[in-house]
Amino acid sequence: MLSGQLVIPRTVLPAVTPEQLATWARTATLELPAPLATSLVDDMTAIARNVLHAALESAGGAGHCARSRADPPGRVNVRVFTEAPTRLCGFHVDTVPAGAPPVGALRVYNGPCTEYVEPSDVRDTESFYDYLARRERLSHHSPRGAAADSDEPAHPWILGEPADPLGPDPLVRRSELARERTHAALVVLDDMPSFLRTGAAVKTVPPDATVYFRHLDVRHMWSAYPVTRTWIHRSPMAGPTRLVVNIALAGRLPTRRSPA
Ligand SMILES: [Fe+2]
Repeated sequence: MLSGQLVIPRTVLPAVTPEQLATWARTATLELPAPLATSLVDDMTAIARNVLHAALESAGGAGHCARSRADPPGRVNVRVFTEAPTRLCGFHVDTVPAGAPPVGALRVYNGPCTEYVEPSDVRDTESFYDYLARRERLSHHSPRGAAADSDEPAHPWILGEPADPLGPDPLVRRSELARERTHAALVVLDDMPSFLRTGAAVKTVPPDATVYFRHLDVRHMWSAYPVTRTWIHRSPMAGPTRLVVNIALAGRLPTRRSPA
């Protein structure tokens, strides 16, 4: 298991080739047992290659390198980290730069898995963005919301335990109470996403699965489009530390040269 053995702070590898990702990953996994490190490096590199192959296929280049062993042209953006999930980020869609092929992949190597909703369970994009706007307003007003599910101790006056002999500063107390109210509102939004049809259930990605999914061209964010165009998903709200790898195409694919 990776838990407790691998620590990777939030890292962004912009515009790297699969081989460059592999080089970085070999260094990042030096603390792991060799077989596990090799397996992890190989898996992450394979995902990057698959993203490039998928992007080529979506751009009409399937005949060029259909699942060939050679590295496909192009580069990927990689976001990778080990962190415990928090309530900071709810349902969302991932985006790519304007005009980029909307191809990406998500892999969670251990711990609680990513949650998602079926497009047929979503009322429409307008409902989703209404939900997203309300949640973003709340989470931005709750800078410590991410800590609400952590091991951070509750404040003594809330628990009724002995507090500072001078008592909490009234201003601090008011802000803490506001934070509690904000957190409660976030819990309601997360437990009952308003953009879902009645009776719809939130689903969970199976363990050990890599999800290849369509990102959204950033130009279409906040606009009305068919709900089947993107993958609405979120991290779990709590749980142990996970290794998360998110890979997307970096910009446009290189233009192919005509044969001489
Ligand atoms: Fe995401």
